[in-house]
Amino acid sequence: MEVGIDKMSFFSTQYYIDMVDLAHARGEAPDKYLIGIGQTQQAVAPATQDVVTMGANAADQMLTQADRAEIEEVIFATESGVDQSKSAAVYVQKLLGINRYARTIELKQACYSGTYGLMQARDYVTLHPKAKVLVIASDIARYGINTGGEVTQGAGAVAMLVTANPTIATLNQDNVFMSDEIMDFWRPNDSSTAVVDGKFSANIYRDFFKEVWERYQSQTGRDLNSFKALVFHLPFTKMGLKALRDVLPEVAEQKQHALMDSFEASRRYNKQIGNLYTGSAYLSLMSLLLNDDTLAAGDELGLFSYGSGAEGEMYSLTLQPEYNQGLIKEQLPNLLAQRTQLSIAEYEKMFDSVVLGSADRELDITHDHAKFVLGGVKDQKRQYVEQF
Ligand code: COA
Repeated sequence: MEVGIDKMSFFSTQYYIDMVDLAHARGEAPDKYLIGIGQTQQAVAPATQDVVTMGANAADQMLTQADRAEIEEVIFATESGVDQSKSAAVYVQKLLGINRYARTIELKQACYSGTYGLMQARDYVTLHPKAKVLVIASDIARYGINTGGEVTQGAGAVAMLVTANPTIATLNQDNVFMSDEIMDFWRPNDSSTAVVDGKFSANIYRDFFKEVWERYQSQTGRDLNSFKALVFHLPFTKMGLKALRDVLPEVAEQKQHALMDSFEASRRYNKQIGNLYTGSAYLSLMSLLLNDDTLAAGDELGLFSYGSGAEGEMYSLTLQPEYNQGLIKEQLPNLLAQRTQLSIAEYEKMFDSVVLGSADRELDITHDHAKFVLGGVKDQKRQYVEQF
C-alpha cells in the first residue's frame, strides 16, 4: 500500500512589500536582494493573521465535509506559535469543524518540524490505512526591522492531507536524517524575533545537505540521476541554489540544465512570498508541481528539509498520475494577484502591530479578507473569528 500526500493547499497574507523598495530603504543595491538573496517580494502579516488563522485558512480551502469527519490527527508544525502550552492544532480543529475524535499536537524544531509531521502522518496511515491525517506547517518569519535577516522574512501556511493511495505523491520510506546541537538560529522566550548567525547558519545548511546527501546515496544506492528534481527548504531562494550547485557536478551537463530548470520552477512562489520557516520546503514543492510542465507520473523527487539548531532530512516522493487534481490550480496565482503592496513605512507599522502579549485588545478585522482572522485578546484568550 502506498501512503503519501493526497491534497495540498496554501495561504498567505494579503499584503506584501517589494524587495527593491526594501533595498532602497536599507541603502543596499537592489540586485543584492533580487539576485544575491534571490527574493523579489515578501509577504507581510497584519495583526489579524497568526499561525492559527493562516493554517486554518490554508486547510479550509481543500477539506471536504467528509475529510473533516474522518481526520484522525491534526499535526501542526510551527516555530512561531501563539501559546507556550496549548497547541495551535486544537484551535484549528475547532475553526475547521474537524471531529472531536481526532488527536491534536504542535511540533517544534525550527524549520524542520513540518517534515517530521509529514513522516508521523505517513507512519500512522501505514498502520491505519483508512485514516486521514492533516499536517499544517505555518509560520511568520520575523527577524526585525533593519536587521541582516529582514530580507528573508515572510509569512504563510501549507496544509497537507496524508492518506493511503494519495493523489499527489507517495512519501517513500527512504528517509535519511541527522541532528547536531548547533547555535545557528534560535528564538529566546522573551523575543518575538529570531536570533541568527546568518552566514554560519547558511554554511551549516550546506554542510548538513552534503552530509545527508552522501549518506542518502550510500544507504539507498541512488544518485542525482535518480531524480527528476530536488526540492529544498528555502529560507531565501539563493540558499537552495547554493546547495543544488554543490552537487550538480555529479551529473552530466544536460542533466544539470534539467535540474536547474526544475529548481527555477520550484522557487518561483518562494521568491514572491518569502520565508515560511516550516512551510518553505512544501511551498517549494507546490511551486514545482504547479510550474514545471515537464513533470510526469512516476517521476522521483528528492526533498531536503533543514531546521536550524540543527536537523536535516532527505527523502524521496513519487509523483502520482493525477497529481494536479490534488492541488487547487489557480490558488497561488490568484492569491499573488490580489495582494496589496505596502510602502516600507506601512510595513514597519504593521510589523510592530503584532499581537504578542495577553493584554485585552480589540483588532479592526474589517480590512482582512481572509475567512479566519484574529479578532483580538479578551481575558488573556485569543479571539478567533470566522468572517464568512
Ligand atoms: N548584486 C548581486 N549580488 C550581490 C550584490 C549585488 N549588487 N551585492 C551582494 N550580493 C550577493 C553577495 O555576493 C552574496 O552572495 P553569496 O551568498 O552567493 O556570496 C549575497 O548577495 C548576500 O550578500 P551578503 O553580503 O552575504 O549579505 P548579508 O551580509 O546581508 O547576509 C544573509 C545575508 C542570508 C546571511 C542574511 O540575510 C541572514 O542572516 N538571513 C537569515 C539567515 C537564514 O535565513 N539562514 C538560512 C539557514 S536556515
